[in-house]
Amino acid sequence: MTNSEQGLRVAVVGATGAVGEELRRLLDTRGFPVAGDPVFVASERSAGKKLPWKDREVTVRALSPEVFDGVDVALFSAGGSTSREWGPVAAEQGAIVVDNSSAFRMDPDVPLVVSEVNPEDARRRPKGIIANPNCTTMVLMVAAKPLHDAFDLREMVATSYQAAGGAGQSGITELIEQAKKLIDRADEMRIRGIDVESTVEPEKFSKAIAFNVLAHCGSFTDERYTDEEWKLVNESRKILHIDDLRVSPTCVRVPVLVGHSIAARLTFGSEVSRDAAMAALAGAPGLEVEDGIGKDGEELDYPTPLGSAGRDEVLVGRVREDLGDPRSLNLFVVGDNLLKGAALNTVQIAELVAAE
Ligand code: A2P
Repeated sequence: MTNSEQGLRVAVVGATGAVGEELRRLLDTRGFPVAGDPVFVASERSAGKKLPWKDREVTVRALSPEVFDGVDVALFSAGGSTSREWGPVAAEQGAIVVDNSSAFRMDPDVPLVVSEVNPEDARRRPKGIIANPNCTTMVLMVAAKPLHDAFDLREMVATSYQAAGGAGQSGITELIEQAKKLIDRADEMRIRGIDVESTVEPEKFSKAIAFNVLAHCGSFTDERYTDEEWKLVNESRKILHIDDLRVSPTCVRVPVLVGHSIAARLTFGSEVSRDAAMAALAGAPGLEVEDGIGKDGEELDYPTPLGSAGRDEVLVGRVREDLGDPRSLNLFVVGDNLLKGAALNTVQIAELVAAE
C-alpha cells in the first residue's frame, strides 16, 4: 500500500447520495487515515458542487478515469451499473475498490465481507474489488455468525421487515408524503381500506406503503422469489462459507423510515438452549443484546428499528428456544440499514485494507 506514512488517498463515488453522505461523515468521525483531501465523485449533474470535508470544502468531480489517479481506496455507492462500468477502471489503476452495490457480490473472485464476520476474506481479492453485502443479509449475519460458531448453522427461515429508506431517499419521501395524505382518511382506511389503497399512486413501491405492509421488496425474478430474497439466500451462504445452508426467505416492506428487522428461526447441527445462545451472543463483535420480558423484576427490552436508527451496533432480542425443535432458536435482529447495512461496513472494510 502506498502513502503509508501519510495515510491513503481515498475516493468516494456517489459522494452526493444518502449513503455517500454517511461515508463522508464516517471517514471523518472514525479517523480514517485519509491522505490529503478525498476525491468526491458523482455524476455530471453534481460536478462543481462543493461538499464539506473537515474545516474546508471539496469540489465534486464527474466520473472519469482521471479521478482515480493515485487513489489507494475507492468507495463506490452510486448504483450497480456505475460500479460495473467504473469499478474495474478504478481497480486497473491500482485502487482497492469497496463496492456497496450488488454488481460483484456473487463473483467468485470478489470477496463479500461483513467486517466482524469474515474479515479474513478481504485479503483474497484478485480483481482488486471487495463487495459490501445486502443490508438485510448484513444485519442478520452479525447475529448468525457467533451462533454458527457455537452450534453449526444448517437452516434459516428468515422474514424481513425492511424500512422504506432501504429503497433510497425517494422511498422515505414516498412514505412521508403518503402518510400525510392518508392520515386524514383514517375512518375510510378502517372501514374499506381497499378504496383508499386503490386511489394511491405508488412510485417507488408497488402498493401504498403508509399504514400498510407489503410482501414485496425488490423485483420478482424467478420461482416466485424476489431478488431481495435471493440475496438473503446466496449472500448468507457466501459470507458464512456454508454452501448448502438452507434458507427460506420472505422480504417484507414496512412503513419505517430507517432500520431493517428480521425475525429468524435458525436450525443447528446440535441442540441449543437459550442460555447457551445468550452466552454465544454476549460480547459478539458489533452486536448488542436487548432481551428481557419484564417478568420477575427483569427489564422489558427488545430491539426496534426506531431504536436502531443512528446506531452502529446490530441489535438482537426475543431469543427463544423453538417450541417444536430442540435444534432451533427463534430471534429478532435489527440494524440501521444506512449504517451497518451500508456505509459503516463499507468504511470498516476500508479500515481492514488500511490496516494491511
Ligand atoms: P448525483 O448526485 O450526481 O446524481 P442515492 O442512492 O442517494 O440517490 O445516490 C446516488 C449517488 O450516485 C449520487 O451521489 C449520484 O450522483 C451518484 N450517481 C448516480 N448515477 C451516477 C453516474 N452515472 N455516475 C456517477 N455518479 C452517479
